[in-house]
Amino acid sequence: MILCQVHFSLNIMNNKLFTVFSFTVFAVLISYLLASQHIAYSETSIEADIIAGQGIYTQCSGCHAPDYHRTGPKHCGIIGRLAGSQLEFEYTTAMKNANIVWTKDTLDQFLKAPLEMISGTSMGYAGIASIQEREQLIAFLSSLTESNPVCK
Ligand code: HEC
Repeated sequence: MILCQVHFSLNIMNNKLFTVFSFTVFAVLISYLLASQHIAYSETSIEADIIAGQGIYTQCSGCHAPDYHRTGPKHCGIIGRLAGSQLEFEYTTAMKNANIVWTKDTLDQFLKAPLEMISGTSMGYAGIASIQEREQLIAFLSSLTESNPVCK
């Protein structure tokens, strides 16, 4: 509304430079609006992935929990951690020597086919074929940071 008025009055002045200026302001505003909508969209889709991933995590929770060791090691703080590095958990030599840092990419590779990535791991799990399910599960694992109440 204000923009239209500004634009209108500037047109009356018939000053080319100001017209160009008002168009520029308009374009910047439009792209800002589009960008903020995009950010809002990605935030909701990450939220949705985390929720879906939490559902898929039931396939892991026979052996794992986010905040304590079971048959498998706990998952809180997994992103950025060296594989096989939690002192209180007894890993296989294969996992201890894997020399892998858990990132979204390495987790994706591992969860697709654990034994193919780390032959000799004792993680008795075939893997997840669906790329979308892995993405959702990894979104959930990535949410298990120190600030997550589950991990406190
Ligand atoms: C049958 C039990 C079992 C299931 C099911 C299982 N895991 Fe594991 N997981 C383990 C064991 C045991 C280890 C330790 C392996 C080793 O030392 O070789 C492990 C290790 C891991 C590690 C490495 C952790 C670290 O500290 O380096 C990740 C990541 C992992 N599991 C993720 C998952 C996810 C995600 C799922 C579900 C899709 C899953 N696991 C399902 C038993 C299991």
